[in-house]
Amino acid sequence: MSQTERYLLTRANIEGAHQLAVAEKHGAYEALRKVLKEGIPYSTVIDEVKKSGLRGRGGAGFSTGMKWTFMPDPAKDPRPRYLAVNADESEPGTCKDRVIMQRDPHGFVEGVLLAAYAIRAQAAYIYVRGEYRLPHDRVKAAIEEARAKNLVGKNILGSDFSCEVYMHRGGGAYICGEETGLMESLEGKRGHPRPKPPFPAMFGLWGQPTTVNNVETVFNVPFIMNRGSAWFASLGTANSKGNFLCGISGHVNKPGVYEFSFGITAKEILEQHAGGMWKGRGLKAWFPGGSSCSLLKGADIDVVLDHDSLRTRGSSLGTAAMIMIDDHTSMARVMEIISRFYDHESCGQCSQCREGTQWLSQIFRRIAHGKGKADDVATLEALAKGMAPGKTICALSDAAAIPTLSAVRLFKDELIECVTRQADPLAVPQPHYAVAGGHH
Ligand SMILES: Cc1cc2nc3c(=O)[nH]c(=O)nc-3n(C[C@H](O)[C@H](O)[C@H](O)COP(=O)(O)O)c2cc1C
Ligand code: SF4
Repeated sequence: MSQTERYLLTRANIEGAHQLAVAEKHGAYEALRKVLKEGIPYSTVIDEVKKSGLRGRGGAGFSTGMKWTFMPDPAKDPRPRYLAVNADESEPGTCKDRVIMQRDPHGFVEGVLLAAYAIRAQAAYIYVRGEYRLPHDRVKAAIEEARAKNLVGKNILGSDFSCEVYMHRGGGAYICGEETGLMESLEGKRGHPRPKPPFPAMFGLWGQPTTVNNVETVFNVPFIMNRGSAWFASLGTANSKGNFLCGISGHVNKPGVYEFSFGITAKEILEQHAGGMWKGRGLKAWFPGGSSCSLLKGADIDVVLDHDSLRTRGSSLGTAAMIMIDDHTSMARVMEIISRFYDHESCGQCSQCREGTQWLSQIFRRIAHGKGKADDVATLEALAKGMAPGKTICALSDAAAIPTLSAVRLFKDELIECVTRQADPLAVPQPHYAVAGGHH
């Protein structure tokens, strides 16, 4: 078993760590104090984060330090600037940010402040998934506790760094996790993604320079500033540094959120940590990083979890949310559920996405319910090819198309059998469904 030096959830596992007194006893705000007391310049914070190799944990895996350098030089562009923290966490299978906010809200707030310091933001907006009541309340309480001790607000710890931190609760739409949809929603409008360019660093919240970062991304920053970029870069693999939070769900004995260094294999996570597949069943297929990445076959489980290895296998790390599917499960039914989600969540601005997600959902539904038509599997493939990649305003269209293409590639025979038999051999009866054979 590979060795993992854990740091992300150490404080989170301490009783009462959501309270400032307990959190401070266990190191919260040490990195912020160090940066402000020693007057470490913002450019050094950016350099450290760049050298550490930290990549965004929101799904795309972009270099965090590099993203921060896209913010304009304040000497040349004196507009107000903002940090938007993406705590919308709505990708099916993903539930790691919840653990951070609920169990170590002060560590999170410290990360928010350091990220805001690095990009010289005067305010940070945390956009929280609407259903996350307790995480929201804990972070809000943490902000107030921190404010009372001059850790948030004006002239933090007597320095010339001032930063307000605001919370905003979403209304339950997945699209508000897309960074420009999130900004529209924060501005009080519908969460419709914006065409890019202009990018958020030049035209973000209220048209001002803005950086959008994921919760787990900023949560790593205090550790990097405390222990140094070399320490962080010593954990993980060549292009994926540090530790990550892995949510494992589906047909496993011990689903949950676990912390590992990049480099651990998916097989080890499943067998040594998640207790193996339930009921002694076999692994048929799995998503390595949430439902919007390509499915892999069960036989492909002995793969290193990092950005490069998963790309080599034809999938992606995404949010490191492993969804495990047992060999009693119908893939038509899995895809029916997933495609229904994307259909429901499409904002409807782009025709490929609006129409495509709706058709994928209809077709998977009828295949799964024994009403498939002769050319349905070919139609799924053609539709999905027309939806991805990069043809739409945002990546939701790709997020629906990518798992579809992998399901058709890996499980074509099973899907075709459902159509030819006019029945899904693996179907579990769904008496509450009445499925029309033809159009919706
Ligand atoms: C449809 C859609 C939903 C998304 N949802 C989330 C989300 O809930 N949380 C998140 O951090 N990123 C989400 N993202 C990715 C964000 O657009 C953005 O890349 C990310 O917040 C950047 O942070 P990072 O660089 O720290 O990873 C989503 C993207 C798309 C296309
Ligand atoms: S790709 Fe889909 S969700 Fe994204 S902007 Fe277009 S219609 Fe909306």
